[in-house]
Amino acid sequence: MALLKQKKVLLGVCGSIAVYKVVDFVRELGRLGAEVTVVMTESASRFVTPLTFAALSGQRVHGSMFADQDAEQIPHINLARQHDCILIAPATAQTISRLASGQADDLLSAVVLAACCPVLVCPAMNSNMFLHAATQHNISQLQSYGYTVVEPDSGAMACGEEGSGRLPAWPQVQAALQKLLCPQDLDGQKVLVTAGPTEEPLDPVRFLSNRSTGKMGYALAAVAWQRGAEVVLVSGPTSLAVPAGVHCVDVRTAAEMGEAVAEYFDAMDIVIKCAAVSDFRPSTCAEHKLKKVDGELSLPLAANTDILKGLGHAKGHQFLVGFAAESENHQIEGNRKLAEKNLDMIVVNDICGSKTGFAAETNAVTVITAKGQSREIPLQSKEEIASAIFDEVVRNGGGAHEV
Ligand code: CTP
Repeated sequence: MALLKQKKVLLGVCGSIAVYKVVDFVRELGRLGAEVTVVMTESASRFVTPLTFAALSGQRVHGSMFADQDAEQIPHINLARQHDCILIAPATAQTISRLASGQADDLLSAVVLAACCPVLVCPAMNSNMFLHAATQHNISQLQSYGYTVVEPDSGAMACGEEGSGRLPAWPQVQAALQKLLCPQDLDGQKVLVTAGPTEEPLDPVRFLSNRSTGKMGYALAAVAWQRGAEVVLVSGPTSLAVPAGVHCVDVRTAAEMGEAVAEYFDAMDIVIKCAAVSDFRPSTCAEHKLKKVDGELSLPLAANTDILKGLGHAKGHQFLVGFAAESENHQIEGNRKLAEKNLDMIVVNDICGSKTGFAAETNAVTVITAKGQSREIPLQSKEEIASAIFDEVVRNGGGAHEV
């Protein structure tokens, strides 16, 4: 699944100071390969000129119900027909009210009324206006029409007040948009993903760990939620933001990860162990900082329990997926781990390539199933790889429906 690539997004921009943030949304959408057409309300163009959006989207910006050129094209009907989804950001109290009451007295409201595609509304306004019973009632109306409304952020606002009503940040909007456009083939499924490294303490300031950043596991958790699953992410220490909709359990050591996974395992339908778990830990953790010594110092290590192997032997209805981080003999090692850990599927990951290893934004993997099938997933973003992995999970019986 190509997420937002080549998706035609109609961006409805309303008159709020938050318009300046939406200028950047157009760039983000473009970066993800979406084609954006902007419709501005009259008051939106008092904050930012249509020229700004035209330059960034590479498309003519629409504002009037009555086109100067191609009037026979009936702008509101054609714009409604030509797009895969409508994103309204920032959505003001006025536009939300107009849409709730089904008015069609400007181009944006007429397009929304004429559209059959999914609609995503991102409110942005003063907190009192947002919390007013009239606005809340209008938002419930929009939800009853099947539109998705993204919860605004809380914090300091341009008007000097604090509260709920700030335009949601782009990662939330992107996730909600992708969810609208994804197949909901994991609907009703409970998915557990582990991600990141583990840290095994040696003393209060030192630990044994590895170079995992958690990007692949977080992408898996994000995509699972977008495809309709309820997601638990058990994460070692990372610097990443928890993806929208995902319940994150933070852990540090392999032992803590094992305990958290055991707590959730029985209730899960699909479990993907993407974490780079330390195989060893220092045999003891000193209470105080270890002091320098002259000459060599040896560090006794104790083996950690293999969490995945334990799950493989305990599993019932769960579809269990492991990762194999390899620098050589990828296929042989993948097959060995698949069999030894009693998995349904293994994702073999070359950790030495500059575009496929830890910290890279991209990845390329080989998926091997317990039925003996092997599939190469070529180099692409970690989010696209995550999506392709779930295609394989569903194809092999791990989801509710066939892709
Ligand atoms: N794994 C685990 N618990 C461990 C070690 C690994 O659950 N103590 C899981 C990883 O999350 C991954 C899979 O096992 O899904 C394979 O991990 P990997 O590091 O590739 O292999 P190992 O089994 O540790 O074997 P080796 O280090 O010898 O390659």
